[in-house]
Amino acid sequence: MDGTGCPSRGTGLSDLKQEVRRFYDAIGWRHIGEGLYQNARYEDLRDVSRDYVQRCHRRVRRFLPKNGKYLLDAGSGPIQYPEYLEYSEDFSFRVCLDISKVALDEARIRIAEHGLFVIADIARLPFRDDIFKGIVSLHTIHHLPGDEHQLAFKELLRTLAHQGCAVIVYSWGNASRLMRLFRRPMLWANSLMGGSESKTNSQFPEENVPAMHDAELLESSSPSATFTFKHSFKWMKRNLAFIEGLEVRVWRSVSTSFMRAFIHPKLLGRLWLRIIFSLEELLPHLLGHFGQYPLILFTKPADKVSGERH
Ligand SMILES: C[S@@+](CC[C@H](N)C(=O)[O-])C[C@H]1O[C@@H](n2cnc3c(N)ncnc32)[C@H](O)[C@@H]1O
Repeated sequence: MDGTGCPSRGTGLSDLKQEVRRFYDAIGWRHIGEGLYQNARYEDLRDVSRDYVQRCHRRVRRFLPKNGKYLLDAGSGPIQYPEYLEYSEDFSFRVCLDISKVALDEARIRIAEHGLFVIADIARLPFRDDIFKGIVSLHTIHHLPGDEHQLAFKELLRTLAHQGCAVIVYSWGNASRLMRLFRRPMLWANSLMGGSESKTNSQFPEENVPAMHDAELLESSSPSATFTFKHSFKWMKRNLAFIEGLEVRVWRSVSTSFMRAFIHPKLLGRLWLRIIFSLEELLPHLLGHFGQYPLILFTKPADKVSGERH
């Protein structure tokens, strides 16, 4: 694996992307329980966090157009959480795109003829310009090598219809300033609870490194995690300046590790998460900048030449 993102001869996918695909086919989308995949280990699925997690998922829908023909879900996975289904409720078709065949087979079981299923790379979309009224891409761009993130955004913009809207959920990884503030207390809390995060968290440098999805900190070199790379807010502002009106808001300000460390039923966990959610509603841009997971939003202005025909 050279990590450059250059396609290997014959397959069209680089070695790195093939490795990511193999991971999701064999491990990430393996069933580990009733309607649950291995990938869900990166989420906090406890009762105490459920309401907060669901409300954050529902944030995405707020920004999507009210209806349309095609919604693109780029890196759809199996559409693993019930709230995800709501995003395409008012669209005729949900176009699920992924490099993992297992992901798409599972997605097909969920949405059947409402779906169109395409195995392809998010950095090279096999669609014509201006086709999707709505686009979502959740936790996927970070699986590309760092030098292809901008390309993926360009592809999403290219295929977005005029007056359509794209919603991307990204992660600042270890560069989240808010989560860095809590790094030591998180380690203490985890070691108090006998957790293993304390052994590995501190190994990771602070900025712009091949960073891991929160809980991947637990087992970054184990076969249960795969490649990710997360750019910083600064990088995003500089390198996506070509997207007019790009907005960075908060999707979720706290990481799964934070919730596991501090949110507990006996410590008024639900109340704390309600307060955090209210703060996110009040300060979406600030917490989008400093928190763990930004929601990146852009639209495409009306087509001045041909008028609006979509
Ligand atoms: C972390 S999962 C997220 C899945 C889903 N969006 C969600 O939030 O549950 C990442 C998904 O992106 C897919 N993926 C990774 N690299 C990709 C690429 N270059 N092009 C398209 N899909 C990719 C993986 O196969 C996997 O299904």
